[in-house]
Amino acid sequence: MESIKQQLNAAVSQAMAAISGLSDCNANVVTASKPEFGDYQANGVMAIAKQLRTNPREIAQKVVDHLEALALAPIDKLEVAGPGFINIHLSDSYLLSEANSALQKPDLFIGKSDSPQKIAVDYSSPNLAKEMHVGHLRGTIIGDCLVRVLEKMGHEVVRQNHVGDWGTQFGMLITHLRELEGDQNEQGTQLADLEVFYRDAKERFDNDADFATQSRLAVVKLQSGDPEYVAAWEQFIDESLKHCEAVYEKLAVTLSRDDLDAESRYNDDLPIIISDLESKELLTESDGARCVFLEQFKGKDDELLPLIVQKSDGGYLYSTTDLAAVRLRMRDQIHRSLYVVHARQSLHFQQVFAVAREAGFADDSLSLEHIAYGTIMGSDGRPFKTRSGDSVKLEDLLDEAVKRAHDLVSEKNPELTPEEKTRVAQSVGIGAVKYADLSKNRTSDYVFDWNTMLSFEGNTAPYMLYAYARIRSILRKATAVNTTMIAAVAETEERVLLVKNLQLPEVVAAIAKDCYPNQLCNYLYELAGVFMRFYEVCPILKAEDTSTVQSRLALAQLTAQTLQQGLDLLGIETLEKM
Ligand code: ARG
Repeated sequence: MESIKQQLNAAVSQAMAAISGLSDCNANVVTASKPEFGDYQANGVMAIAKQLRTNPREIAQKVVDHLEALALAPIDKLEVAGPGFINIHLSDSYLLSEANSALQKPDLFIGKSDSPQKIAVDYSSPNLAKEMHVGHLRGTIIGDCLVRVLEKMGHEVVRQNHVGDWGTQFGMLITHLRELEGDQNEQGTQLADLEVFYRDAKERFDNDADFATQSRLAVVKLQSGDPEYVAAWEQFIDESLKHCEAVYEKLAVTLSRDDLDAESRYNDDLPIIISDLESKELLTESDGARCVFLEQFKGKDDELLPLIVQKSDGGYLYSTTDLAAVRLRMRDQIHRSLYVVHARQSLHFQQVFAVAREAGFADDSLSLEHIAYGTIMGSDGRPFKTRSGDSVKLEDLLDEAVKRAHDLVSEKNPELTPEEKTRVAQSVGIGAVKYADLSKNRTSDYVFDWNTMLSFEGNTAPYMLYAYARIRSILRKATAVNTTMIAAVAETEERVLLVKNLQLPEVVAAIAKDCYPNQLCNYLYELAGVFMRFYEVCPILKAEDTSTVQSRLALAQLTAQTLQQGLDLLGIETLEKM
């Protein structure tokens, strides 16, 4: 089912085509910027007027006349405004019937896409040599929001956790692991902190020539499938994945082991990638390495930039694996492949996508999209680090978030039981970290700041969760009334709130298309604000008559439902009480 905006867009576009004779008309319907401009406004007429070299207001009037003759149910009134905009006022009865069906069938409120797709979402994807750190936060959270949104819209989502589990580092790690083998206890303690484990292994690698030789040998043994080495590697990977899973659980992220799409999975495909590139005459040798040079990738001095696919020692690279993954996704008949990865890898993905197309690994049926995000910065304006300059472990960061939230709720609401405090702290703390991230435009950097994200004011998780809990508490006070029908929108504030509620589906559809979760945060923040204004002006429980009480309660109920559904798509759990 289509959102209101999509329906209006289709109707106005068709009207434009009918009166102009042009086949390709885009009504460009947007939500109205001010209530006096109606509920929506169509901005597309000017473009076709230009094409036809006629007066846009005249065309707009013809479109209006055409639409009026159709007497479409949702539309109450149309008017031509400014240089050729069309203001669209929706009919109250239509709005009420939409809202009431959303209340009766909450699951159907966010309509399914008319053309469901198979979509791979590559996200989180940490390197398993180390523990997850703050650099993995954005990809994990943004990716998880996108999979929730896409699934909600009825798409078939294939989560792909493209973990780095292969490469020379693992030789050093398994050599270190094997040496500790005699001592189970020591192995256990060491693996409990992968950072320390990695540091120790690296130190030995750098300072102990024997160990370094052993490690190089280990890589070769591993690659040739030596069972002992494979077993040690598997043990290490399993341990490292447990660390990731602990983080996913804390973050309430929906990734599981079934979603692994590890780099090692592609080992057997890599020689085929090289031979395919070779037979397509795309390979060039440069300093012994095998590269693909494409015209469109040039550096500062106009020299062509390589995509290196095989090192001079025969080893394969990150790019080779990504090409193999594209090839597989094509075979799996994926329609869209989204890569939620830091912006610094933009060139890598542009090159991989271009080479994949050039080599025929992917055709037009597969859309390849890098969903880039920026860096989390510290208050000093540099990438966020611990005081000693180390990378911040994600696990520690999340524990601190919950602890800070616990202090906050204990202070704000001392009457809560200890169990309630724990639950609230969990939801507020983790929600704060997620919301702070999701509410920023993903392509920008942002400064990580505990005070802002845990504030009860502004576009934050505590504010949103509080807005929800407050509506729920109003509804709890109204035990005796049945709240399933919104009967009227007599007051402006009621109508504005109703219209705002009904916009959730179009916001969700926009995110499914462009992958900017901050649109959902902005929308929910506006919705909460609109509710507060409604609540100030329109008494709910103390309204003049019972039917108004009931209707306003139902409207409050709808708002709670919309907030809950929206926050759920962000991966944030709502609270009845806080
Ligand atoms: N493991 C990589 C890293 O830590 C990210 C992988 C992203 N996904 C991909 N298909 N390249 O940077």
